[in-house]
Amino acid sequence: NHDLAQLVETSDEWVVTRTGIRERRFTAEDEFASHMAIHATENMIAKHGPQVLDGVDLVILATSTPDALLPATAAIVQNHFKLKAGAFDVIAACPGWMYALSAAAAYVKSGMAKKVLTIGSDALSKILNWEDRGTLVLFGDGACAAIVEAVPEGYGFKSFVLGADGEGAKHLNMRCINTTLPDGSPLTEKVSMNGREVFKFAVRVMSSATREAVAKANMQLTDIAYFVPHQANFRIIDAARSSLELPPEKVVSNVERYGNTSAASVGIAMREALDDGRIKDGDDLLLVSFGAGLSWASSVMRWHAKTF
Ligand code: ACO
Repeated sequence: NHDLAQLVETSDEWVVTRTGIRERRFTAEDEFASHMAIHATENMIAKHGPQVLDGVDLVILATSTPDALLPATAAIVQNHFKLKAGAFDVIAACPGWMYALSAAAAYVKSGMAKKVLTIGSDALSKILNWEDRGTLVLFGDGACAAIVEAVPEGYGFKSFVLGADGEGAKHLNMRCINTTLPDGSPLTEKVSMNGREVFKFAVRVMSSATREAVAKANMQLTDIAYFVPHQANFRIIDAARSSLELPPEKVVSNVERYGNTSAASVGIAMREALDDGRIKDGDDLLLVSFGAGLSWASSVMRWHAKTF
């Protein structure tokens, strides 16, 4: 925060009070989403052994900051690890990795793929307006990687809820090829956001999508061991927690150290809760995210601590 206060008119106190964020990481000038995606996958290999990638037949990579429009960043990852696999990107803003998880789960369930390397990688620092204090302080760069494959009966994804409301496009956007939305309103050169509107939407949808995913899984909120929300702003997380009447110890939050890492956010939070021993084999988890679109996604899953 102190570094950013040298660039724009803000202060550590303002950022901490309004968002809970103290630190975030930014990629170097020559590092992009593909580099972080490869690092995250290498971390997975370091943890589980090289056999973790054996038999991967599909790579799905969620990002809003692909290295290029052509090729898909997923194909860069496929080539790096020499996987005999299909590869495509998902663009669905911050919930992108959860959309990727839902697609991976559907591919595996249908038999169209057996083992899916599912990555979230976003270098939002590359597309921020470094003069806009309203967005600059919120985001960080990061990546997560996971394998989705068949698990024993009773484990795995129990529900997915995916939603979008394109009416809200005006509240959070950035141009690519076109310069306007269909209604003629301008798309901006860099990320632009109406913070207040996104805040209200986020609090509302985090609790409604959570309730929906739990109901769809035929479960109760009290069955959930850990609530792993998108890490955008601690006030959003806490407002959702409070409206869902969840005890604070059930909520995973690391927004303080990473800011909003977009598509990587839920995966990084999950990884930390696994590493420190909070999430255990058989725990029921609730994952929920929201972002530009406006869009959202939630899921209930029973964690399977597989050894590869
Ligand atoms: N430092 C100091 N002042 C600031 C800063 C800053 N970094 N940013 C904004 N301000 C000012 C504003 O200009 C405003 O000043 P004004 O009253 O003179 O106009 C004042 O602070 C208050 O602004 P608010 O918008 O009312 O502040 P709020 O309490 O709503 O917090 C925030 C702003 C943190 C952006 C909040 O609205 C928020 O978190 N919104 C959700 C954002 C989000 O989660 N986006 C991620 C979407 S995910 C994706 O898909 C990319």
